[in-house]
Amino acid sequence: MRTFKYELLEVIRNRWSARAFSNQRVKKDDIYALIEAASYAPSSMNEQPWRFILGYENDVLLKLRDSLTSSNQEWANQAPVLVCLLSHRFHARNGKENKYNVFDSGSAFAFLSLEATNRGLIAHPMGGFDKEKIRESFNISDEYDIVLMIAIGYLGDKSLLSESNQLRENPGSRKSFEENIIVE
Ligand SMILES: Cc1cc2nc3c(=O)[nH]c(=O)nc-3n(C[C@H](O)[C@H](O)[C@H](O)COP(=O)(O)O)c2cc1C
Repeated sequence: MRTFKYELLEVIRNRWSARAFSNQRVKKDDIYALIEAASYAPSSMNEQPWRFILGYENDVLLKLRDSLTSSNQEWANQAPVLVCLLSHRFHARNGKENKYNVFDSGSAFAFLSLEATNRGLIAHPMGGFDKEKIRESFNISDEYDIVLMIAIGYLGDKSLLSESNQLRENPGSRKSFEENIIVE
């Protein structure tokens, strides 16, 4: 159950991490639009450290699926699109460590997820996948952190989920925002 005290943007109110995906195809332009939205996130020194591996109607999708934990595979294998978010660890200009790179890539996911909601799509983030498998399968150097997998698609029939996932198939509730303010 979600309650909002203020009239927030519709995409903020409506975004949630559903698990029931339909097999409806996602147009390539919609996938690219999500990546463009992600690219407009702010980043430290405008480094834009986010990088993406796109799995849709290709072999990449199968490799990305293969990296998921079995509990994520149970539902996320129905998603027609998986995107793996990577993050470049170093400043382009001087090669020094960029301490904000994962933070900035997290902002990129937030932008992507809101644009997904705007387009009637789900973008469900997952940490449950084998990062080393991704590194090996796609020959990713250690210049990049492997951050997040994102299952993307349209909402499907909840009754096709396992019983335990059906019970979880609700927008995540929140503490009141006031509880997050520690000084004012
Ligand atoms: C970094 C990160 C890792 C997550 N990993 C998983 C995961 O492996 N499997 C899963 O089903 N959900 C995963 N989630 C989704 C969260 O459980 C979900 O965002 C949270 O419960 C809040 O619900 P909401 O997104 O519907 O508001 C992850 C979310 C984030 C941000």
